Amino acid sequence: MNIVNTQINIGASIPFRLLHIGDTHLTLADRRENERKLKLAAERSRHFNNAELYLSEAERYARENNLVIVHTGDLIDFVSEANLDRARKFTVENDVFFAAGNHEFSLYVGEAFEDAEYRNQSLAHVQKSFKNDIRFAARKINGINLVAIDNSYYRFEKPQLEALLAEIALGLPIILFFHVPLFEPALYKISMERNECAYLTSTPEELMNSYSEYRYRQQKADDITLETTELIKTEPLIKAIFTGHLHYDYEGMLTDTLRQYVTGIGTGRVIEIS
Ligand SMILES: [Fe+2]
Repeated sequence: MNIVNTQINIGASIPFRLLHIGDTHLTLADRRENERKLKLAAERSRHFNNAELYLSEAERYARENNLVIVHTGDLIDFVSEANLDRARKFTVENDVFFAAGNHEFSLYVGEAFEDAEYRNQSLAHVQKSFKNDIRFAARKINGINLVAIDNSYYRFEKPQLEALLAEIALGLPIILFFHVPLFEPALYKISMERNECAYLTSTPEELMNSYSEYRYRQQKADDITLETTELIKTEPLIKAIFTGHLHYDYEGMLTDTLRQYVTGIGTGRVIEIS
């Protein structure tokens, strides 16, 4: 695991550190699964063959340094009993604060258009392996409000916007954690050089002209998503954003004052908060 240090000075009553990781993509499956899932596991494990190594290294590092682990989703690559058992071990044996990624609800990877209906086929079952609500959660440490939101289908939803407003009303400095980064021009450019689309939330429509119809439909922001994005960009209590999904490290400015970080596969980002 590659350790990256990030310092943010946002008024903690006592300085503290977190370990941010994401996109582990566990690909475990055993005899409890059907043939189709076993085949999927064999195929997908080739892409993510260091998943267990990176996860256990992060667990050890957090234990040795007494750190809360924040994971911003795609801990599992697809829903399987063995993956959920490992997820439970992760959340039981460590102090984990978690936001879901798109793969948390993948029954078979890329089999269907992923929307709330698809997610709800597995949400209750997946949730059982985690201690906090994986779609929205808040946790206060030393006067800082850590807020985790599942935006993994490129959308924020109304209950999440309302819950975020309720957290803002508490008046504490906020650090946001979610899976899919928000659009910013520099990150869009980097993403488009690597892929056929940028895989970002709230990308302006005119910058999605080259997207396939599927990616456009998947990533086009709806009104609540745009409203939530605007709130995030303008609310002075929101001090920093930590995300994943892209699988590489990135650090940029979402606005003149708001920094957004992406933590990639194999990276453990130690966030020092003061
Ligand atoms: Fe993802």
